[in-house]
Parts: sequence; C-alpha cells; structure tokens
Amino acid sequence: MSILWPLHGVSHCCRKLQKRQKLYSKVKSIYNKLCIHPPLDSSMSLKDKVVIVTGSSKGIGFEIAKEFSENKDAHVVVCSRSLEQSVTAAKKIKGSTLALEVDVTDQSSVNRFIEKVIEKFNKINVLVNNSGYPYNETIWNKPFHEGTIDELLKIIDVDLVGAVRLSRAVIPHMLKYKVSHSKQNNFGNEKRLSSDEQGNDIYESGMFSLDNSEEIDRINSGGVIITISSTPAISGRTGGFPYTIAKAGNISLTKCIAKEYGNSNIRAYSLALGNIATKATYEAISQEVRIEAAQEVPMKRWGKPEEVAKVAACLADDNFSFATGNTIVIDGGTVLL
Ligand SMILES: NC(=O)c1ccc[n+]([C@@H]2O[C@H](COP(=O)([O-])OP(=O)(O)OC[C@H]3O[C@@H](n4cnc5c(N)ncnc54)[C@H](OP(=O)(O)O)[C@@H]3O)[C@@H](O)[C@H]2O)c1
Repeated sequence: MSILWPLHGVSHCCRKLQKRQKLYSKVKSIYNKLCIHPPLDSSMSLKDKVVIVTGSSKGIGFEIAKEFSENKDAHVVVCSRSLEQSVTAAKKIKGSTLALEVDVTDQSSVNRFIEKVIEKFNKINVLVNNSGYPYNETIWNKPFHEGTIDELLKIIDVDLVGAVRLSRAVIPHMLKYKVSHSKQNNFGNEKRLSSDEQGNDIYESGMFSLDNSEEIDRINSGGVIITISSTPAISGRTGGFPYTIAKAGNISLTKCIAKEYGNSNIRAYSLALGNIATKATYEAISQEVRIEAAQEVPMKRWGKPEEVAKVAACLADDNFSFATGNTIVIDGGTVLL
C-alpha cells in the first residue's frame, strides 16, 4: 500500500464533494426557474456568518451575542456606547467576537462602526437591533398627558431611529454580499469560478455553483434583520407611551424591510418581548412588583434573556427561509396573535 494512501482518501472526498456541489447547483438552478426554494443544505448554517448585535454589552443583547458565537459558530460584533463594557462583555464570550463602540443615535458613529465591521470581516449577514433607551421608572409610569415630547424623542431616537439607522447602514452590504463576500473574506468557503460581462467575479458559495450574474445577485445577496420590540407595541399599555410608540415603530420597520428586500433574500423579524429578567428590569424593581408581573403571565414567571437569544438565533438560521416580516411574541403566553 502506498504511503500516500491518506491523500488518496482526501482527493476521493474532494471529488465526491465537487460532484455533490455540481449536482446541488443544477438542482438549485432548476428550483430557481420554478420560483421555489431548493432543498435546504447544511452549509446554509450560521457558521462563519457575521452578526452584529447592538446593545450587547449586557442584558438580552449580551445573551444573543453569546448564543450566536458559542452555539452557532458565527463571528459576533459586540457593541454599545461604551467600548470598555463591550470589550469586557466580548471577553466573557467564547468564540469569535469583535468589540466596538457605537451610539445608535449618532449617524457618524454608526458609519464609523459599519466601516470597522466591513474592514474586519468584509461582510454583514445578520443584524440584531437590540439597543434600548435605559429603563426609567418615571417615564414608564407617566400618564400620556404628562409625558413630554422630549422624552418621546429621546426614546424614539434610540429604540426606533437607532434601529432604522443601523438597518439602512447594513442593507447595502447585504445587497452586495456577492461582491464583498468574494474579494477578501477568509471566513467562507467560496471559490472564484469566472467573471461576468461587467468583470464582476462569479463565485461558488457553499454548495451553490452559479453561472448567471442576475441569479447570483438574487441568491448570494441576503441577510437577516431582527429588531427587538415589546408586547405593549401590540396590546397597548397604560403609561410610558414613548416606549410603546417606539416599539410599535420597530414592528413597522420590520414589515418595510421584509416587503422591500424579500426578493434580495433579506428577511426581517420583530421579537415582541414580555417581562425578561435583566439588570435593567427585574433587578431594578421591588420583589412585590416582580411577583405581580409574573402573576399576569399564563406561565407565571419572568422570561430569561437566554430564551430570547435562542429564538433570535433560530430565526437567523436559513431554516426560517420562507417566513419573514412577522412578529414573534416571547412573553409566556400573555399576548396571543
Ligand atoms: N428586559 C425586558 O423585560 C424587555 C422587555 C421588552 C423589550 N425589551 C427590549 O430589549 C432590549 C434589551 O433590553 P435589556 O433589558 O437587555 O436592556 P439593558 O440591559 O439596559 O441593555 C440595553 C443595551 O443597549 C445599549 N444602549 C443604550 N443606548 C444605546 C445607544 N444610544 N447606542 C447604542 N447602544 C445603546 C446599552 O449599552 P450602553 O448604555 O453602554 O450604550 C446596553 O448594552 C431593549 O431594546 C428593550 O427595550 C426588554
């Protein structure tokens, strides 16, 4: 037996893989012509995808970042207004992370932030708009006519306009995924095939082998945008109207993105959360109020940030490929759609 026998094994595997890729690309191109999605392939997982989670220095955002990095093998951008806190948070997460600072209320900060993400990874696959205006008991309980326009604008600027700013900044990168994906990214398993008439490189991405640039744009562009909303956005709430209005806007933002970019494989979801135990909420209120809040829920308890994180990671996975624009309620069964 040749001492090179292990290499024969490797090349045999490569040939088998190439055959499988060719077959899959043929199948895929047939499905595209029929206007239906091809069978899902394991290569369409979140492994090596680049995920931005805003407001991930703590609370729910931190758990979402952790889930994507540790259980989904994605590259995760951990960020908040504080670089120091983002670095500390990123250090607590196993896997590939990049800690950055961003203030979602400041367009130039958002621009600089996106530039840095692209500089490092050259692509953005998933955005989770999670940043939220710090919980403020006074605003939260104020009757509508006593709340101020200043309070409304401040909360909207973070929770709603912040999410709009980030979404607008990442969508161009999701749309040109083909180009940015191809040139210098070391993370994917793409391989250059040829050039189209405009001189654009045509790539084989995962199991997709394509020979038509229009088709490539449609298939290789794409991404997922998840925005964290809240149940008062659906059911209404007595008091704290700035928050309710901002979170209702998040649901509309999701619908706009889903409708406008569905054809470019950009999917969008809102997560309407009930009471989730974080430092900002559970730990900031009295035991009496905690119990009262739990009693209002059919499941008689608070949710955990990890329970939100699991849903976010599932939605970003390609297994959700034909569901978009929807709001998923995570509240232990209080608000039923
Ligand atoms: N916990 C709940 O029960 C609950 C329920 C419904 C919805 N939600 C929503 O879920 C999200 C997370 O809530 P949480 O309880 O985890 O809150 P949290 O612990 O206060 O975390 C909020 C995060 O947002 C960041 N942030 C605040 N202002 C920002 C800005 N201008 N630019 C960038 N980042 C900013 C904070 O970091 P820096 O301050 O360092 O910037 C922090 O990382 C929020 O959108 C919240 O409205 C929470």
